Parts: sequence; structure tokens; C-alpha cells
Amino acid sequence: MVDSIDKIVSLCKRRGFVYPGSEIYGGLANSWDYGPLGVELKNNIKQLWWKKFVHGRDDMVGLDAALIMNPKVWEASGHLSNFNDPLAECVKCHSRFRVDEHDKSEARNSKSETNTKLQNKNKCSNCGGNLAEPKQFNLMLKTFLGPAEDSSNTVYFRPETAQAMFVNFKNVLDTTRKTIPFGIAQIGKAFRNEITPGNFIFRTREFEQMEIEYFIKKDTWQENFEHWRKEMLGWMEDVGIDLKHVHEIEIPAEDRAHYSKRTIDFEFDFPFGRKELYGLAYRTDFDLKNHEKGSGQNLKYREQGDGTSSGEEYWPHVIEPTWGVDRSLLAILCSAYDDTDSSRTVLKLSPKIAPYKVAVFPLMKNKPELVEAARKVYVGLKKEFVVAWDDRGNVGKRYYSQDEIGTPYCITVDFQTLEDETVTVRDRDTTTQERIKISELQNYLSDKIYS
Ligand code: GAP
Repeated sequence: MVDSIDKIVSLCKRRGFVYPGSEIYGGLANSWDYGPLGVELKNNIKQLWWKKFVHGRDDMVGLDAALIMNPKVWEASGHLSNFNDPLAECVKCHSRFRVDEHDKSEARNSKSETNTKLQNKNKCSNCGGNLAEPKQFNLMLKTFLGPAEDSSNTVYFRPETAQAMFVNFKNVLDTTRKTIPFGIAQIGKAFRNEITPGNFIFRTREFEQMEIEYFIKKDTWQENFEHWRKEMLGWMEDVGIDLKHVHEIEIPAEDRAHYSKRTIDFEFDFPFGRKELYGLAYRTDFDLKNHEKGSGQNLKYREQGDGTSSGEEYWPHVIEPTWGVDRSLLAILCSAYDDTDSSRTVLKLSPKIAPYKVAVFPLMKNKPELVEAARKVYVGLKKEFVVAWDDRGNVGKRYYSQDEIGTPYCITVDFQTLEDETVTVRDRDTTTQERIKISELQNYLSDKIYS
């Protein structure tokens, strides 16, 4: 586990996981770009999630909806009126603060909380000046569709992927023949005009979510909530988030988002403090009911009247497990980072999500017969895995370099390879080496990486 965020930021920049956004123009406040290794890691996280929660289950289907939706969606969901953070401005230096900066949760809108925090936090932490009365600041990110920049063309980038699942509920029902309980899953970008983005990729204005809206009968909400609580813990284990540093927090009623009857936050011990990683909420039938009201369309579910069920019609209730992709990646990097051995820094990433699964080296670069044999191994493995090639410096330096980016296995082609068609396979975590026949490499690595 890493002890300072600076180590992660530096490794990410140095090795091409994450760069400051628009860097050659001096950057853009708290925007970040994922580099060649970052995009691999992020894609692997998303693919693993999809495999586990969509392809791995019979009761789940996927969706990929537009980022910009009809503004009426946000009226009905309550985001235009409720998705606020309290913003206070210093009368002296004009610094702006999010008043509920304690960040126990991402929960919004709690007026009682806002008022209490205000009394405690009425001084500017920048210059000590007085803070003016806070205003509610709406986090929706606005833009215009079409040439005229007027209110009739105002639209919003979605602040969560969730609403698209409610808006498409009827479409999914009509086209998939799913019956309750079932879920809709989506991975995609979300945008929030955050007052205080920061802590690297922890809080940004543009980020990605992986969300599930799981539609149930009202009286089963407790057992389904418990099911998803366990699934979320299982996910964290799968991707190598250190559970010793995960805390489940029951969010009290006054701090919950406007739609929620129960919320658990999963917090993680990031190096900059304990902060929300994921959330699990019981959204009741709030969303479908409101979208039915807003759209005039019937969004109820009808039980099949096949003799075993009643044929009754109702708004399903919803359990919503939600994951931030960027926060997942950050928690995974923090958990995997290990510099306790002074001779090397290792990212102990789960092989399933490591950017490169394996690296191939010729023992010496200036021996064409070794390079040729190594290239053959490299090209063969590339059909199955994401493989790195490295022929710079000595083998020790190459190991160091691969350890630092989390490559679980390194293969060296040496003179013995030319005689007996075997190579050495070195394990990142134990540093032990085994000799394996080239013809057996693919099965050997598949077993190690995917089992
Ligand atoms: N649909 C419910 C919802 O959006 P949320 O707690 O506001 O709930 C869900 O957001 C997850 O999205 C959070 O647990 C976090 O992982 C991620 N997230 C929220 N705001 C974020 C931000 N500004 N930057 C990065 N990730 C964010």
C-alpha cells in the first residue's frame, strides 16, 4: 500500500499511466489524460466489470446511452433543483469553498448539514477572511445544442449514467423479455461542475462510472441490497483493492441523496485521507415514478399473468450499486504499490487487469540468433496476450522496469533456448524463475493469468 499520493502521481506520469490534461498549454485545472498504460489498465477494469456483472449473469443486460439527454430528464430526476453543493465565497480574497468539505459522502442537498458546517467553517482557509453566506451551487454542466446560445437550446451533460437506465426501462423490457428481478448496466462518462476537484483523479469534473440499476419487487429490497453489498466487496477483492483499507459507512437519513432510503458508502484509505470509493443505494421507485410523471409514458412493470403470478402492475423498486472507474483505478494503484524492498518498486496488480500480461526479452541484443528466437516467442504470444518487448540495457534493469508497471511475467530467451526450446519465466511477485517449454508457454500463462 502506498504511503503518499506523490509516489502514485509521479509513477503515473513517468510510465505513461496518467498525464496532466492539455499539459503543453499549461494544463486545465484538474483534468487528466490516460496514457498508453493507463488506458490499458482502465479498459481491463471495465472489461472485467462487464464480464462479471453483465456476461456472467442471466439477470443483467447492458446499455450505452447518449451523454446529453433531453433536459426534461433532469427536471424529472430532481437534478436541476437538487443536485447542489453549498458554495461559500471569501469576502476578502474571493476564494471559493465547498462548505460540506468533510466529504463523508457524495450526498448532496442536506440543508441541516450545510447550516451546521457553516457555523464551524465561516473563516477562509486561504486568508482567514470571513466567508459570505453560502449559496447552493448546481453541479450540472451546461452547454448548448445548435447555433443559438439561448435557454431553449440549453442542455446538460449527464451527471450520472443512472438516469439513462430509467429512461430506457420500457425499451429494455419490450426488447429483452426480462422479468423482475433484473438489472441494466452501463459504463460511461459523467460530468459534474465540482466546486473543489482535486487529489489527482479522485475528484474531477469529467469522470467515468460503472452503474447498475437493479429492478426488484418492493418487499425484496433488503435481501437484494445485501446481495449487492456482497457483490461489491467481491469485486474489490477480484481487482486487488486492499479490503483492510475499505470501510462500509451507513449514511444517515439527513446526509442521503434526495432519492435514497438507504445508502452505504464504501470508503477507502487513500493516502490523502479516507474518502468515498463506491456507493450502494436503495432508490425506491423514485425515478420510474418521476419519469412517468415527467414523460406521460407508462413506466410500470406488469407481472406475467400466467397462472402463477397475479398480472399486477407496479413501479419496480431499485437497488443501485455504483462504481467510479477513475477511483477504482486509483484505489487499485494505491493497493498494488509496493516499495518495501529498497531495490525495486513493484505494482502488484492482479494479472487479470495488468496492462501487459507478459514481457519478452532476448538475453543479449547484439546476438541476432537470440533476438530472432525471442521475436518468435513474442509474436506467438501476442496472438493471445498483450505483450511487451524489451531489449534495452541488462535483464536486471528490464525486470525493474516491468515490475514498476505491474507486468506479472517476464520471459528471457537465452542460449539454452536455442538448444532445447525452453525459456525462463520470472514471476513478478516472488522473483522466482522457472524453465518452460515454448510449446507449453501459452497454456502455462493462461492458467496463471486467468484462473
Ligand atoms: N448514480 C448515483 C451516483 O452517481 P455518486 O455517489 O454521486 O452516485 C457514484 O457517484 C460514484 O461515482 C462515486 O462513488 C465515485 O466513485 C464516482 N464519482 C462521483 N463523483 C466523482 C468525481 N467528481 N470524480 C470522480 N469520480 C466521481
